[in-house]
Amino acid sequence: MINIALPKGRLGEKVLALFEQAGFDCPAIHDPGRRLVFESESAGVRYFWVKPSDVAIYVERGAADLGVAGKDILLEYEPDVYELLDLGLGRCRMAVAAPRGFYDDEERTLKVATKFTNIARRYYARQSRDIDIIHLNGSIELAPILGLSDVIVDIVETGATLRENDLAVLAEVVPISARLIANKAAYSFKHGAIDMISEKLKGLVQP
Ligand code: PRP
Repeated sequence: MINIALPKGRLGEKVLALFEQAGFDCPAIHDPGRRLVFESESAGVRYFWVKPSDVAIYVERGAADLGVAGKDILLEYEPDVYELLDLGLGRCRMAVAAPRGFYDDEERTLKVATKFTNIARRYYARQSRDIDIIHLNGSIELAPILGLSDVIVDIVETGATLRENDLAVLAEVVPISARLIANKAAYSFKHGAIDMISEKLKGLVQP
């Protein structure tokens, strides 16, 4: 049995559909009731849903052999896992955004609000820019509107949230998409089964 942590939510539904298309279907997961773990003996997989930002923790600690996590989470927390495959789902970008018309005075320390403090720190360190990081847990776009920060570093998908709040992208930090990740120890002793799953998924992924 390969234990697979799936990210709960819209992305997770697409990820499950991809696994099922690859032949790892699990009828039980479509009639969940109150159960949390879903097994398909014939496919040799056991799925469970977890909060998207927790997938990497389950995989790193070996509670899951495989999981699907966003590149944003992998870059931010740098979990000690193998990244096997870009699934091409959940495509978006990490970007710097600011109120429309924002002028960046490089002599000043830049106030940056973000959920992704490590990504933001690394990005500005590469530019040797002094920043003051303000860690927020959500609704990051509010920060520059209310003067809490000059800019934000956040995920932009359709761009609707920025547009509707008179914010605009200043720079792209990194493109993001969902990645198949594996626990390192599990990969060494179950690599046959894990490689088979990875190869089948790879055959379905849009380049
Ligand atoms: C994410 C992100 C942006 C929004 C971008 O927020 O932080 O706010 O989606 O999507 P868009 O470009 O399609 O508008 P999420 O909905 O995950 O909630 P959060 O504010 O709690 O981070």
